[in-house]
Amino acid sequence: MSQEQDRIEALRAEIARHQRLYHGEDAPEVTDAQYDALVAELATLQGSAEFTDPVINKVGYAPRREFSTVTHRQPMLSLNNGFDRASVYQFVARLDQQLGMGGRLAQEPAFSADLKFDGLAISLVYELGELIQAATRGDGSVGEEVTANIRTITQIPQRIRGPLGTATRLEVRGEVYMATADFSALNARQAAAGLKTFANPRNAAAGSLRQLDPRITAERPLRFFSYGVAEPPAAWQSLVTYSAQMQALAELGFPVCDRRLAHASLAQVWAFAAQAEHDRHSLAFEIDGVVIKLESLVHQAQAGFVSRAPRFALAYKFAAEEASTRLLGIDVQVGRTGVLTPVARLAPVRVGGVLVTNATLHNEDEVRRKDVRAGDTVWVRRAGDVIPEVLGPILALRPSETRVWQMPLHCPVCNGPVLRQQDEAAVRCTAGLSCRAQLIQALLHFCQRKALDIEGLGDKLAEQLIDNGLVLRLSDVFRLSKASLAALPRMADKSAQNLLDQIAAARTTSLSRLVFGLGIRHVGERTARDLALHFQSLEAIANASLEDLMQAPDVGPVVAASIRDFFGNSAQRAEAMEIAGLMQIARLDDRPAVAPQAGSQTLPLVGKTVVLTGTLSSMTRDQASAQIYALGGQLGQSVSKKTSLVIAGENAGSKLEKAQSLGVTVWDEEAFLACIASNTPPNTPSPTNSQQESLL
Ligand code: IVH
Repeated sequence: MSQEQDRIEALRAEIARHQRLYHGEDAPEVTDAQYDALVAELATLQGSAEFTDPVINKVGYAPRREFSTVTHRQPMLSLNNGFDRASVYQFVARLDQQLGMGGRLAQEPAFSADLKFDGLAISLVYELGELIQAATRGDGSVGEEVTANIRTITQIPQRIRGPLGTATRLEVRGEVYMATADFSALNARQAAAGLKTFANPRNAAAGSLRQLDPRITAERPLRFFSYGVAEPPAAWQSLVTYSAQMQALAELGFPVCDRRLAHASLAQVWAFAAQAEHDRHSLAFEIDGVVIKLESLVHQAQAGFVSRAPRFALAYKFAAEEASTRLLGIDVQVGRTGVLTPVARLAPVRVGGVLVTNATLHNEDEVRRKDVRAGDTVWVRRAGDVIPEVLGPILALRPSETRVWQMPLHCPVCNGPVLRQQDEAAVRCTAGLSCRAQLIQALLHFCQRKALDIEGLGDKLAEQLIDNGLVLRLSDVFRLSKASLAALPRMADKSAQNLLDQIAAARTTSLSRLVFGLGIRHVGERTARDLALHFQSLEAIANASLEDLMQAPDVGPVVAASIRDFFGNSAQRAEAMEIAGLMQIARLDDRPAVAPQAGSQTLPLVGKTVVLTGTLSSMTRDQASAQIYALGGQLGQSVSKKTSLVIAGENAGSKLEKAQSLGVTVWDEEAFLACIASNTPPNTPSPTNSQQESLL
């Protein structure tokens, strides 16, 4: 009980502190989502879905003393938030009842929906069409006078015309914001000049607008969206819906976001919100939800206000991408290449729409930098498809007794020694495949779809095979018998036979799949294919020197060294050769050379094996190989009857002679360049290293 009371007090203090940082100093330490999560936790602890706490109910913050103040004729309110569908239904149901709609409101085209822009609210007052005053929201009643600063924003009209514009007094409200790209560029400029950077675009917009010197504001890329008119003047009385007002504002020259809904039913609002959430990270500016409003201005007036927000509108916030939760402990996982990864074990929490119980902490340095400790309350983030991540602790909520986390000195799985190489963030278990964790991961990698493609061999079975001693090394996969498999728990005769059939089928494969499946560090699917096509046998790869390896397309010193290390280990080399001996390498590669793309069938080298010989004057060998792949071809190493084409540069020797004797087509560099040119869309630069990336 008292623990709960402590937590409530700690949360209230923390929330009040963030309000001061956010509104007063434009220097928040947490994101809006984090702030919302604190508020939600406080409301839950206080046993109320409504925000009744006076700390939370404040609208904004007292104006900075350096500014003149403006008393708003009509208070600038905040919006009530809804974080789930239920709260939207509740909002609609309450309005339905208030307006006496008999349950029909949700079906009626009664709503508008706007994006919820993440900036700061501004009031613009026009008298007889002239902008005479601009003010921030402040605490809702009294704001800061920022007219000179607002005049620097070119999107905001200084003068408006026509019967609607030239009313005695017109007050337009909206949001000043900064586009995401402008924010990044501003931060880069600030950093280069040794000036303070901003935490987020909202904060950069607020900090830029609330400058005492408007010349500084003028240098900042601020933008504006309008979203309403306070106290519509007489000339506006004929506009009876919110959307009609928005239309009028747009016609007067105010920026109105064109991504909005007018006269929509609740079903349309759901679709709009879902689409907005889906697109949120690809918009030019930040949003954190959608704002749902009643269309009818008469209904709006009827619905009225609660203490700090109108009843006719609701901010329907996207699933928070951040949440706070308890860090129960830090586990260490051992990956395929032996890397020890600290993983946060969390009290289950909903983030970005899913329940999260684990989140990566990346590596030792990250844990140290964030100083997260078991027992801490931590921020967890899961944005889009990105894997969940721990951002850091909430220090104000740290229990009195915690310990700084240490990376274990031995592998937590096999107890083998661990090593951190210089210039590397990773700590590795050095036991290789004698470490159970590494063997499991290596086996799964060997059997994965892009390698040998043995579908029946998943996580659980891999563990069973290893724990029952049936697989001690990868080649054991080919020694499994039906009897030994069928003896495993939950494995019937039929499933044992299915697995054996799959393994038998996987024996016949391509060299590139085998090379990839071996799990050599830094050798991904594409490098494996390049190695296979270049060297044409596992033996040749194993025997290749560093220099030889670097002749293969896209193999640099790091990859080459890793391949040498792999085969330099005699046990590993013997095992790789044994695997190769148990398999039948039927072809070098069995995937299309380029990712299938529209029109790839029409590429000139599809189905052709091309051998390069001699020196080309306009490109390196790697670039030429890349071009061959991009044109649909396969690279061959030696010339035979199967060779479709030889491209011969300067000083071509025996390969050229052989091609001529076999009657294989030979191109010189000019012919090759002509082929490239006729297949290169206009405006693509000629081959360079960076383009080579995109070609492959
Ligand atoms: S309507 C009574 N529409 O969100 C207030 N507000 O959290 C009516 N905001 O103070 C505001 N986008 O600064 C409205 N499309 C939008 C908005 C929006 C962002 C801001 C506004 C408001 C705050 C409330």
